[in-house]
Amino acid sequence: MFKSICAFAASSLLLASASLHAATDQGVIVIKFAHVVADNTPKGQGALLFKKLAEERLGDKVKVEVYPNSTLFGDANELEALTKNEVQLLAPSLAKFEKYTKALQVFDLPFLFDDLEAVNRFQKRAKGRQLLRAMEDHNIVGLAYWHNGMKQLSASKALQLPADAAGLKFRIQPSSVLEAQFNQLGATPVIMPFAEVFDALKNGSVQGAENPWSNLYSKQLHTVQPYITETNHGVLDYMLVSNPRFWYSIPHQVRTELEGIIDEVTFEVNRQAEAANQADRARIAAATGTQIITLSDEQREAWRKAMQPVWQEFEGVIGADVMKAAQIVNRNKRD
Ligand code: SIN
Repeated sequence: MFKSICAFAASSLLLASASLHAATDQGVIVIKFAHVVADNTPKGQGALLFKKLAEERLGDKVKVEVYPNSTLFGDANELEALTKNEVQLLAPSLAKFEKYTKALQVFDLPFLFDDLEAVNRFQKRAKGRQLLRAMEDHNIVGLAYWHNGMKQLSASKALQLPADAAGLKFRIQPSSVLEAQFNQLGATPVIMPFAEVFDALKNGSVQGAENPWSNLYSKQLHTVQPYITETNHGVLDYMLVSNPRFWYSIPHQVRTELEGIIDEVTFEVNRQAEAANQADRARIAAATGTQIITLSDEQREAWRKAMQPVWQEFEGVIGADVMKAAQIVNRNKRD
């Protein structure tokens, strides 16, 4: 009897919390998915594919509203909005979670991953999967990693060697690792929301930035940066996140279907991201006004040497175990 009263109380509580947290519009669960990039990027396409599949398969139960280009929330407030359930899905760049966990800063370390394949291996292995749950105490749950691509350095002057960056101001994402990376070069890092980067580069308040090709092209940043050095010095990837109170209030069957859809979308985003970046690189190469600088092995080694001291600086906060797990994916190419 006591057991069944408890069970009844627990299920009533669950129902009450479901109605509290799963925002419904006449019985349909509304999922707002906000992000800061354009539709024609790996993340933008992923958000639209998630909406399409979710509404095709669960249209009587789920409605997905996608807000690209910082139109609902931007870098400054989107994670706080998520924890307050004002938005239900985000996919911030991994550099934007520092306030909630230091471990994810492993992704910002310069020259840690050889390429996107290595990043992919790390994300699939135990340590990478573990990091998806690193922010649950802050009411943030990671659902998947989505790729964008490797970052390139752009500037108002040609950057062949690290010394060329000294004295310039570079826009960065809010990450202490990225701050330290530019300090190593004798440059000045300036934290700025993504939505403001084009104007800041255009009016010269910063002279450089680091972005993957897809962000450079979709925001037309190359039109205000005459030089892009193909450094591939770091990765810009995303974590698809929700808030657990919302996510686990979705009825089990619907949530299971949504999680299956997320797996499919993740596979597609990650399969296409590299090709999308290379297509945007080709578009920029074909445009007039921007020179793409490719580095010799010796020049790239000089950039690595200049930036790599940052690893040691951050080993204590990121965790030696996390950094070690990330380093071995370059050598071990089995999966
Ligand atoms: C994004 O790709 O979501 C934006 C990354 C940035 O702020 O540079």
